[in-house]
Amino acid sequence: MKRNILITGGAGFIGSHVVRLFVNKYPDYRIVNLDKLTYAGNLANLKDIEEKPNYTFVRADIADLEEMRRVIREYEIDGIIHLAAESHVDRSIKDPFTFARTNVMGTLALLQAAKEYWESLPEKYDGKMFYHISTDEVYGALELTHTEGTPAPFTTKASAGEHMAFGTEFFLETTKYNPHSPYSASKASSDHFVRSYHDTYGMPVIVTNCSNNYGPYQFPEKLIPLFINNIRHGKPLPVYGKGENVRDWLFVEDHARAIDLIFHEGKVADTYNIGGFNEWKNIDLIKVIIKTVDRMLGNPEGHSDHLITYVTDRLGHDMRYAIDSRKLQAELGWEPSLQFEEGIEKTVRWYLDNQEWMDNITSGDYERYYDDMYKNR
Ligand code: NAD
Ligand code: TYD
Repeated sequence: MKRNILITGGAGFIGSHVVRLFVNKYPDYRIVNLDKLTYAGNLANLKDIEEKPNYTFVRADIADLEEMRRVIREYEIDGIIHLAAESHVDRSIKDPFTFARTNVMGTLALLQAAKEYWESLPEKYDGKMFYHISTDEVYGALELTHTEGTPAPFTTKASAGEHMAFGTEFFLETTKYNPHSPYSASKASSDHFVRSYHDTYGMPVIVTNCSNNYGPYQFPEKLIPLFINNIRHGKPLPVYGKGENVRDWLFVEDHARAIDLIFHEGKVADTYNIGGFNEWKNIDLIKVIIKTVDRMLGNPEGHSDHLITYVTDRLGHDMRYAIDSRKLQAELGWEPSLQFEEGIEKTVRWYLDNQEWMDNITSGDYERYYDDMYKNR
């Protein structure tokens, strides 16, 4: 079947994996990647597919309603996978307005433009889909009841072996929203707008809430690529607070596979949580990263341990995120494909093998921004 699919934020981390998967897997689809190319957008992430005949790039701002109307009409879009967002919690603490503008007003402009176009067609919403990518952070924070971790009640391939849970509660699709950071508040607000377009106008929508992603092409302000790069340069590794916060990590290609499955087979107006039952305390994860990078660089074990530097905690730092993704596994048969150890090996190897990609991003403006952020901690 021919389809015209708009993927927003396709030049970013997760978006680039989704664009690559769709362009390669569906030669009959026209994939339009719409991205503003903020500091986080990088067309070098898509070098391998940019010449493909079913791929088009449009540089635009999702908050520009007129432009969204034009693009959706011009390309006769029938499916939207919406990833464009401001995505970094630390930036949202410094500049919440940009997050409200892009994540809330941008999502609303995209919804409105899609509504107007789809309602103008004879078949209306038939065969249409607005798929909104959200985060587990909208649910707030879970309590850390077990500081050492206990064997988890569920396992998946990603966590097989030694999955530990640091608390008894997990985020379910029915968990009440309770966002704390300006980032998560803006994502929660956008999720509500998406659902309101279904409930009010009958637009077919799906929302998914995923845990922390890791893998190639992630902007090096996020924990894993930042720390890999800092170890390579012998720079300090700023651990917020005591390093005891817990995150639930999923390999980005597994997220992209879930998005593909849900876009095609998910139930309209439904919500799915995506995660690999793979919780790690920050400090334990950091030790695994140090060990892996040192080994791959040929350094003796323990060589970079001294780089660990405890710094002032993030304001309002959420203690624990842990997703229960059994609904997605039971209803659509999705499972993460990688065990965490394999995922980390692949990820560290990729960053060390792609130093030019990293150096291009971290030179100039970003280096100055990062040094300023770090100095202020
Ligand atoms: P990212 O910051 O790497 O990429 C965001 C992309 O959106 C960039 O290419 C940027 O240029 C583009 N963009 C930003 N503002 C724009 C605007 N106004 N108009 C058009 N394009 C704009 O983010 P990511 O980590 O790939 O996250 C993608 C989505 O997934 C986000 O919606 C995020 O909330 C969600 N998410 C991320 C994670 C994670 O761990 N990274 C986890 C769950 C959900
Ligand atoms: P991050 O990658 O920013 O993702 P999120 O805040 O969306 O979960 O951070 C992951 C965890 O690592 C989070 O608990 C904050 C912590 N962290 C540090 O300790 N130091 C850092 O320099 C960064 C960027 C994050």
